[in-house]
Amino acid sequence: CGIVGYIGHRDAYPIIIKGLQRLEYRGYDSAGIVLFNGESMQLSKTKGKVEDLRSRIKDSISTNGKLGLGHTRWATHGVPNDVNSHPHYSNSGDLVIIHNGIIENYESIKKALIKRGYTFESDTDTEVLVNLIEEVKRKEGVKLGQAVQIALNQVVGAYAIAVFDKNKPDEIVVAKLGSPLAIGIGENEYFIASDASPFIEYTNNAVYLEDEEMAVIRIGKEIKLRKIKDDAIAYPNILELQLNLEEIEKGGYDHFMLKEIYEQPRAILDTYRGRLLADKGIIRMAGIDQNLEKFLNANRIIIVACGTSWHAGLVAEYIFEDLARIPVEVEYASEFRYRNPVITDGDVLIAISQSGETADTLAAIKMAKEKGAFVFGVCNVVGSSIARETHAGAYTHAGPEIGVASTKAFTTQITVLTMIALKLAKEKGVFSESKFHEFLIELEGIPEKVEKALQSNELVEEIANVYKDSSNCLYLGRGYNFPVALEGALKLKEISYIHAEGYPAAEMKHGPIALIDEEMPVVVIATRKGHYEKVVSNVQEIKSRSGKIIAIVTEGDQTVKEIADHVVEVPETSEALTPLLTTIPLQLLSYHIALMRGCNVDQPRNLAKSVTVE
Ligand code: G6P
Repeated sequence: CGIVGYIGHRDAYPIIIKGLQRLEYRGYDSAGIVLFNGESMQLSKTKGKVEDLRSRIKDSISTNGKLGLGHTRWATHGVPNDVNSHPHYSNSGDLVIIHNGIIENYESIKKALIKRGYTFESDTDTEVLVNLIEEVKRKEGVKLGQAVQIALNQVVGAYAIAVFDKNKPDEIVVAKLGSPLAIGIGENEYFIASDASPFIEYTNNAVYLEDEEMAVIRIGKEIKLRKIKDDAIAYPNILELQLNLEEIEKGGYDHFMLKEIYEQPRAILDTYRGRLLADKGIIRMAGIDQNLEKFLNANRIIIVACGTSWHAGLVAEYIFEDLARIPVEVEYASEFRYRNPVITDGDVLIAISQSGETADTLAAIKMAKEKGAFVFGVCNVVGSSIARETHAGAYTHAGPEIGVASTKAFTTQITVLTMIALKLAKEKGVFSESKFHEFLIELEGIPEKVEKALQSNELVEEIANVYKDSSNCLYLGRGYNFPVALEGALKLKEISYIHAEGYPAAEMKHGPIALIDEEMPVVVIATRKGHYEKVVSNVQEIKSRSGKIIAIVTEGDQTVKEIADHVVEVPETSEALTPLLTTIPLQLLSYHIALMRGCNVDQPRNLAKSVTVE
């Protein structure tokens, strides 16, 4: 979910609505807003997107509230409908809350509150929380801030909340555990949001709450932070943000996803800028340089991640083992954390996350730290929870990724991980100076080759037109390109709702081959390096069962061209770097198919960009 809030001298309405639209990547099942002008309150919420909320209230809204809260939801408890949307009132109607996260013990609290006469309109855990705060406030006779603190000490779960009391129009109380919460500090005004994008045009100064911190935000007063558990005062670390507004808008493209696909040459360059000095034969990465021994002495590297980031982890497994000869295990964060894994202080754990907020990945990090592992983060969002929780790390510097289906985050993650592997290969002596140097030059040339791969767009669009009505699709690849097959299938599933599966090409004959007939499009990654002949045999096997073949091949390829129904060429590069190129046509294919099917490319149903629930 995304939350946004404002208190100050401006009309809150446009700030909240625009802010919610920027946060929609966090969830878009329903949206709601509350505005308060010190006397009257206006609350409106609806199932659907922020645009639905806006059109619903545009005639009725009184825009003079200088205090406002807004919420865009990704449902956890209760189906997405109007009643379950946020904000929620307390029973007296005095308190109003917005909440991102989950209150796990809400049922027992709800029962206790019902016994005391409370009633509930919605099925949400959030409505339980606001009434718990009300009950504490009433019973203990304390102020709102204290009531929030006492109440939060009774709940188990994760939250970022903002709550205000109708009788205190100059104050909003916020608190965080698990879910992100940033406070923008302006002149005599404050902004609250799940990330800084809603307030970046008003102020560059922000404080990110740490876990278990809360703040009473009052007009005309400085922010005071407190620890929720023991009431200790915490001092706000005010950051100056570098985010730029243009970066978070569409910049002429129809969709964020397309913009982000096309940004990849620049994003990859930004990722290695200042780190990869090919002419000097150096890779310089502070997080690695300062912890080199940890990596060189590691028993093994464990990579944890979810979704697309997990696929980047799988590519990294090939790179680390092949180039640097370090054993690697790649784990879904959600499985790893619950299966009592064997971790020792000789292990290095790399957590990959675009958002830096994925709850399962964060939990896996915490567990690995407790067991003594050295934890390294690869994140895109600067200052995110994972970036802060890890011992060291490297940012991908891809710029904000808004499209829910991840594209540039994936290629930049691979770029960072490749640089790490190259550096370790050299330090370990696995790589000669000259081989290292050759690789650096090849990596440096990748943005240009990605640019070339993007030129396949029109051809891919034509192919998309042929297969847009398919109900299934198979993606095959081997070696370095097996994870690319998984990622290609995930992209298609995510945004076009076509069932797709990624498989190692050779595994096809152990099952998926049974699915192949003239109705089945099969996307095969068959670049010249890496088991080329074997993949060609697999392509033959598909052909002889009448499957439709879309092959991603190396420029100038003849053999596959003769067998496949369609071929898309990508430039030649070292085998380890092929995923950075072969991914591009697959991203474009899913984009065009989704568009042709009338799907919402940037905000596919049921998904969210940042999953802060477990
Ligand atoms: C969600 C997103 C995916 C993303 C995954 C992991 O499922 O929809 O695109 O790959 O979370 O997110 P992270 O921010 O940790 O990379």
